[in-house]
Amino acid sequence: MTKIKVFRLAYADFMTKNPEDMINYYTNVMGYRVTEKTAGITYLSNGLDHHNIIITPAEKTAIRSYGYQLDGKLSLEEVQEQLQLQGIASKLRKGKPGIATLIELNDPAGNIIELFTDMEHSAVGYGSSGIVPLKLGHIAFYADNHKEVVQFYQESLGFWFTDQIGEDFCNFLTCNSDHHVLNIVASNETRMHHIAFQLKDASHQCNSSDVLAKHGRPILWGPSRHTAGHNIASYHHDPDGNIIELYTDLDVFIPELGMFEPRPWHKYLPLKPRVWEGLSSWGTEFEVDLAKV
Ligand SMILES: [Fe+2]
Repeated sequence: MTKIKVFRLAYADFMTKNPEDMINYYTNVMGYRVTEKTAGITYLSNGLDHHNIIITPAEKTAIRSYGYQLDGKLSLEEVQEQLQLQGIASKLRKGKPGIATLIELNDPAGNIIELFTDMEHSAVGYGSSGIVPLKLGHIAFYADNHKEVVQFYQESLGFWFTDQIGEDFCNFLTCNSDHHVLNIVASNETRMHHIAFQLKDASHQCNSSDVLAKHGRPILWGPSRHTAGHNIASYHHDPDGNIIELYTDLDVFIPELGMFEPRPWHKYLPLKPRVWEGLSSWGTEFEVDLAKV
């Protein structure tokens, strides 16, 4: 039986009390372009998709939803049937900007997930000023029921388990060749920890740090090469205080082999999913404890 398979994280929808500040940040600092404004909601793209970021005015600051693209081997009706067989409720939504039809459901952590097969293309193209990441790469969120959440993404949406930091603390999952698309962090609360954007290379990381400095956005943590995933990562706050990660050099996962492509900075060969200690392979001291923000 063909199973449900997500293959990428396509967009995140931010609820905000300060939409103008968030739109300014995503256009002037991150280099995204507005593709549509409908009913007060702003849709931004970093190049090819109708949207990768949605800014939704609200009375609170939080993530409204995450959008994942399916591989298209099943119709949305067939996806709903499979979810129903697993006891997972979902709704079919039609007529959203850029996506004619999508499925909305909750993961066990309570996050709203939107699944779709097709999104309209953007006519705006990649930006030429600001950071302009390659793509939205991953999200990390705290969950007070992380084991249930990890199981859900693996069994219901086709993710693979790739790594841990600490026994059962950070749990990394992927749905494609990126080391992780999800980082599910064991906690006594449930909320987003950070959202991450992939850069082109290490020089882009330097240039991006200059852009952040120019716009008065100090780096909280890094740049440093992580242990799990080996990405060179830095973190800063957006205007709402969400933690934004910029990264490059993320490990490439080969699902068929259950291992990662070799890289010069790897200590293990072949590198397979394992439990890591600590966050930095460079021994970098960080001023901000990311586990406490
Ligand atoms: Fe991350």
